[in-house]
Amino acid sequence: MRLIHADIVYSEDRETLAVHPDSYIAVDNGMVKGIWPVIPEEYQNVPLTDHGEAVLIPAFSDLHVHAPQYLNRGLETDLLLADWLEQCTFPMEARFADPGFAKAVYDAFIDDLIANGTMHACVFGTIHTEATAYLLESMDRKGIKGFVGKVNMDRGAQEDLLEDTRGSLRETEAFLEKYSGNRNTRPILTPRFAPTCTRELLRGLGGLGKKYGVGMQTHLVESRWEAEQAGTLFPECSCDTEIYEKAGLMDNGPVLGAHFIFPSEEDVRILQKYDGYAVHCPDSTISVIAGIMQAGALLDRGMRICVGSDISAGHHMGVYTQAARAVQLSKLKQFYEPEGNRKITFPEAFWMATKQSGQLLGNTGTLAPGAVFDALVIDGLSDTARKLRPEQTVERFCYIGTRENIRARYLNGEPMPG
Ligand code: GUN
Ligand code: FE
Repeated sequence: MRLIHADIVYSEDRETLAVHPDSYIAVDNGMVKGIWPVIPEEYQNVPLTDHGEAVLIPAFSDLHVHAPQYLNRGLETDLLLADWLEQCTFPMEARFADPGFAKAVYDAFIDDLIANGTMHACVFGTIHTEATAYLLESMDRKGIKGFVGKVNMDRGAQEDLLEDTRGSLRETEAFLEKYSGNRNTRPILTPRFAPTCTRELLRGLGGLGKKYGVGMQTHLVESRWEAEQAGTLFPECSCDTEIYEKAGLMDNGPVLGAHFIFPSEEDVRILQKYDGYAVHCPDSTISVIAGIMQAGALLDRGMRICVGSDISAGHHMGVYTQAARAVQLSKLKQFYEPEGNRKITFPEAFWMATKQSGQLLGNTGTLAPGAVFDALVIDGLSDTARKLRPEQTVERFCYIGTRENIRARYLNGEPMPG
């Protein structure tokens, strides 16, 4: 057991932050045992780590990020989606046929993820099984809770980034087989999006999802162009989401649909039917997609929403910045389309980036008793002339903090080196 002293902040529920200033948290067997203003009598002799006036918060979850696009972050984001994929993203991903190159990029990606306080993540690899296996194994070894997907695509891209349908299914099955079982980082089916997947491929993946009991991550109604392409390529489906439902991809495990910016009523109905998650990636949608999610309206309808960095359509590795940006974008949405839209609050955005997503990937994302203790210590955000309250420190961190403000990290109750 260990005791940690700090100001403690976490999401109680969607609307409320729990704030425990100047408190002691007990962690036993990797889990939170309790929080008190003074050390309880029975814990007087337990080793104590004192973080002084720093703030202890749960670690963040990035529910949509492309590891192979790491070298492209902050570059060529003045392009729009179709051109950006063709000119910038696909050529980069094709390079992951080289395992040596992949290893160098993935090592740096994982280090940066952890440095930025992301301990849980849903990650896209590329079509390349060997490189993606290295990514999964490396994340798993570091203890990152989440999913990694070998991407599937059998049309709509440059030749050297396409698979033949049967080969894609064969490689995917081998990937699922090899990494099934209890581990921190698990495999997930990852059909890139409707424009790069044939009906046969999706149906085959649906069969694998059922056989191995695995869910799916993809991009869902991410832009008008994408939704139109989906409608043209799958005329038998009434909306983008139905494509995955019809393929049997939605009832085998968690379903994550990135962006969900232009959903029809049918899209919303189907994603909710399967308790799917819409992943809000604000910087990405500002940059290459040019649309704003109706986050407030969807939350009010009970939609499960988390946040993602979407590197490299998004440019910042810290998903905490996306919580802030989600608040900003919700205000723009309300300003330009007041009908049916509302701004979201900072506690709601923080909840999407911590508890809502941490509960999907493990019993974590909060510091309430019983939760797995994955946590960050943040500091250096107050002004000399005025000390911030703990919850203000958290908000400011999301707006203007950097990885340098993260002074310590804990994973499964243990301090992380460095
Ligand atoms: N749609 C299909 N592929 C991608 C991708 O790599 N990034 C984003 N943002 N959208 C996509
Ligand atoms: Fe993406």
